[in-house]
Amino acid sequence: MTTRRLVLSRGAALVGAASTGLLLPEIARAQSGKIRVGLMLPYTGTFAQLGVAIENGVRMAINEKGGKLGGREIEWFKVDDESEPSKGVENASKLVQRDKVDVLIGTVHSGVQMGIQKVARESGVLNLIPNAGIHAATRALCAPNVFRTSFTNSQPTLALGKPMMDRGLKKAVWITWKYAAGNEAFEGFKESYTKAGGTIVKELGLPFPNVEFQALLTEIAALKPDAVACFFAGGGAAKFIRDYAAAGLKDKIPLWGSGFLTEGVLQAAGPAAEGIMTTMHYSDSLDTPRNREFRTAYATTFKLQPDVYAVQGYDTGLLLALGMAAVKGDIGNKAALYRALETQTIDSPRGKWTMSKAHNPIQDIYLRRVEHGENKVIGIAAKALSDSGAGCRMA
Ligand code: PHB
Repeated sequence: MTTRRLVLSRGAALVGAASTGLLLPEIARAQSGKIRVGLMLPYTGTFAQLGVAIENGVRMAINEKGGKLGGREIEWFKVDDESEPSKGVENASKLVQRDKVDVLIGTVHSGVQMGIQKVARESGVLNLIPNAGIHAATRALCAPNVFRTSFTNSQPTLALGKPMMDRGLKKAVWITWKYAAGNEAFEGFKESYTKAGGTIVKELGLPFPNVEFQALLTEIAALKPDAVACFFAGGGAAKFIRDYAAAGLKDKIPLWGSGFLTEGVLQAAGPAAEGIMTTMHYSDSLDTPRNREFRTAYATTFKLQPDVYAVQGYDTGLLLALGMAAVKGDIGNKAALYRALETQTIDSPRGKWTMSKAHNPIQDIYLRRVEHGENKVIGIAAKALSDSGAGCRMA
């Protein structure tokens, strides 16, 4: 790997400089030479595809801006975080302490993000979150150097309850992986659905990333709710959709969810996904020049259809490129950099969005339906939705 070679050559350069009495302070590196960008993402496990889509998006946005950041070339560093929370701090430290990255982009899994959050708060390194929705990152544990380009876990589901009730679905079962992302998605669902007059008849769950759904599907069949609402994502979502149909529930009990359920999995899920209704801050079929241009370019470059994760990665690359351009590559000028990151309007394939005070996107949430293997927009379920940012005090 380049990392090892790099560390050695940097070491050699320092020895050389020391012997000539020209040992430069760290700060000099922060303003010139290559910018060190760390990617901490899942490249294995149920979220592997999400990590790849995010990296593709980041690279695509930066390449569109000339392949540099504020005029500086990029040195990339990568860590596979395996969506393993117990290794979160260790993996983030590898990038920050060992590789001395200037910016850490990561990650997908909310539990792993807690490790990154700790390292980012302690080291002050710039962290851009391209997915993980854990509330604390932009609420009680918010930080001046942490910016999220994706969503909070309750943002999509805060728009889910009303359209279900509008369709007369008055009793629902909720099902999810029992970890931060699923639990917080439930908070949004519970608030929106009960406020609209709905009743949650049962909450079901299984540990992440378990995909043994059978017993739970049998229970759903016995409960006979008007609808099922859920949070699943990645490989596990594809399996849940297929198992739901195979259990004979697809045409009896409508399946709803936060839109991750049908992101990046429509080919794998096949006809079992048709008709699923979701709420999400992106949709394949958004009929805007920006989205069409993005989708064509992404498909041409990567021979893959983009999904919400690719969009979030793309917006992360865009935000970083705009911020770095504003400070002309001087990432050490933190006050100016953070101000630039806070005040951008991101012209995203999802639609334009801005940063909340707590550093989370203020964005539209779309209502979508899977039709012919595509997430079709039905309408806007929530306009310019902002997370509460409760408890956020920027230091
Ligand atoms: C999360 O753990 O925060 C998470 C993971 C995958 C998603 C959404 C949220 O699609």
